[in-house]
Amino acid sequence: MNNFTYYTPTKVVFGRDTDKQVGQLVKEQNCKKVLIHYGGQSAKRSGLLDRIKASLEAEHIDYVELGGVVPNPRLSLVYEGIELCKKESVDFILAVGGGSVIDSSKAIGYGMTNEGDVWDFYDKKRQATACLPIGAVLTIAAAGSEMSDSSVITKEEGWIKRGYGSNYCRCKFAVMNPELTMTLPDYQTASGCTDIMMHTMERYFDQSRTMELTDGIAEALMKTVMKNAVILRDDPKNYDARAEIMWAGSLSHNGLTGCGSEGGDWSTHRLEHELGGLFDVAHGAGLAAVWGSWARYVWKDRPDRFVKFAVNVMGVEPNGTDAEIVEKGICAVEDFYRSIHMPTSIKELGIDVTDEQIAELARKCSIAAKDNLGKVKVLHEADMAAIYTMAR
Ligand code: NZQ
Ligand code: ZN
Repeated sequence: MNNFTYYTPTKVVFGRDTDKQVGQLVKEQNCKKVLIHYGGQSAKRSGLLDRIKASLEAEHIDYVELGGVVPNPRLSLVYEGIELCKKESVDFILAVGGGSVIDSSKAIGYGMTNEGDVWDFYDKKRQATACLPIGAVLTIAAAGSEMSDSSVITKEEGWIKRGYGSNYCRCKFAVMNPELTMTLPDYQTASGCTDIMMHTMERYFDQSRTMELTDGIAEALMKTVMKNAVILRDDPKNYDARAEIMWAGSLSHNGLTGCGSEGGDWSTHRLEHELGGLFDVAHGAGLAAVWGSWARYVWKDRPDRFVKFAVNVMGVEPNGTDAEIVEKGICAVEDFYRSIHMPTSIKELGIDVTDEQIAELARKCSIAAKDNLGKVKVLHEADMAAIYTMAR
């Protein structure tokens, strides 16, 4: 096991009706003015936004609002948020929504506390030294941003999607009421389940050697997500399944399933970020579309890990050659994705990707990764293009 630091400062308030506690939770933060940041329509339509405002008003907390965050959140709205927060002297951000809203809040938080252009952090030009405090009311189990150190923003100029991580942006609290996720379209629920799986799979597949406990936690998490994703496909209002998925979403991306590892191999995420930037696809669906191709491209560099995954997580019988067991494991993941109506190729994402676009995706991905991506197998631009081509 490698040395590690496990840091999860977020207070989790989980379960039915927990959103009623928001006013009290914000009050504990001793702030003067709050920005309520949210997405398109869902939080308004469900009445959640009104309930949150009432909860803040009951505690006499002053607030301003900024909605309009879209999936693959845009840099232009981040700039708008920074302007508004400066004008209104906001000192706390309450994110009401999913990964996109929380990530946009984190970027605004960086912009409020650091000089210069906030994009510099996402462009890896410099490091942030602070962030405004943020709280989250989660409405979709997926990205894990409510407990993660990361945020992902899309710059419209050039359609570049980039992530930035630092402990400064970790949420002070996360309110997680699984009932709030019951209004999700089935596609978003499934896409979220895929992202949760992938956050654990990206950590599971690297060059680490001995990780018995971490592997056990990861394997239980992945099996739980697959089981409950299928329950939700057939019974979207199932509270217990919603709850299992929501908790898995946070644990999948708060570092727990990476303790003692070498940091994981985030190639599938990085390959997806380019798809998200260029084609604006749902993040989880984009991951499902490329993972199988990535796995087939790299497994020979760590066959034991892929065999272990196939047997322990996907229930493949340990008979036959490594190649046979691994292929059965990859096929089982793809069968699972198909069973919840997720794509397993770029075409199934609804995109007829051209050779030129593949070259552009690989070029952008390679620039972002300094032409050195992944841990199982280090990928260069030509490898990235080959994986996109396999996934087309
Ligand atoms: O805007 P509204 O109307 O709210 O609709 C949203 C959006 O269209 C809808 N939605 C959310 N909660 C709902 C709901 N609809 C009905 N009922 C509800 N309760 O769902 C759609 C997707 O929302 P979004 O926030 O985009 O989803 P998700 O949580 O999957 O976030 C995706 C973003 O997070 C990034 C992704 O790249 C992507 O940009 N990621 C962030 C990470 C992080 N910060 O740690 C890690 C991830 O790997 C990921 O990259
Ligand atoms: Zn993800």
